[in-house]
Amino acid sequence: MDVLTVDHPLAKARLTVMRDARTDNAVFRAALHELTVMLIYEAMREAPVRTERIHTPVARTEGYWLAKPPLLVPVLRAGLGMADQAHKLIPEAQMGFVGLARNEETLEPTPYMESLPADLAGRPVFVLDPMLATGGSMEYTIRLLTGRGATDVTAVCALAAPEGIKHLSEAKLPVRLVTASIDERLNDSGYIVPGLGDAGDRQYGAV
Ligand code: URA
Repeated sequence: MDVLTVDHPLAKARLTVMRDARTDNAVFRAALHELTVMLIYEAMREAPVRTERIHTPVARTEGYWLAKPPLLVPVLRAGLGMADQAHKLIPEAQMGFVGLARNEETLEPTPYMESLPADLAGRPVFVLDPMLATGGSMEYTIRLLTGRGATDVTAVCALAAPEGIKHLSEAKLPVRLVTASIDERLNDSGYIVPGLGDAGDRQYGAV
């Protein structure tokens, strides 16, 4: 699996705010928004464009448009905090939604919502989830997408664990990863170490 680690001082600084246990929900959400902009910007670096001659007020020149805006798929709940910022950067994009809860005993993903176009053949898809931990939720989501014909999936994650990367690589799915950090490991509760805690709770409070 191709992995792009966005190794930039601004990304590191936002991630540090998110990691810091003293950061409150509002500041955490703001930092995740800003980090999402950086991750999406890098994820779109090789996106195909179509050209068209346009008129500026002064002269004719070449104009550029996104040839294939991706479908954005936040994985609820935690991915919701990345959706608006990704959409601001790619206003042409459509958005689907996948809702997954984690069974805290088995760590298996339990689906409660799937709202996706029926046919994804030829469409790039960006899955938005702040945490790639075991890789179980990401694999589940990607299989929903490939089942609809997707062959070009990008997982956009603030943080990734080596175990999750290994899991996705071994699953041989058509996915690449864009992340701000590959952390050390998972702990026995399935949390990324050093990580940032529960990305849903850190954004919205523990409910
Ligand atoms: N999900 C989270 O929100 N945090 C982790 O550390 C792992 C999975």
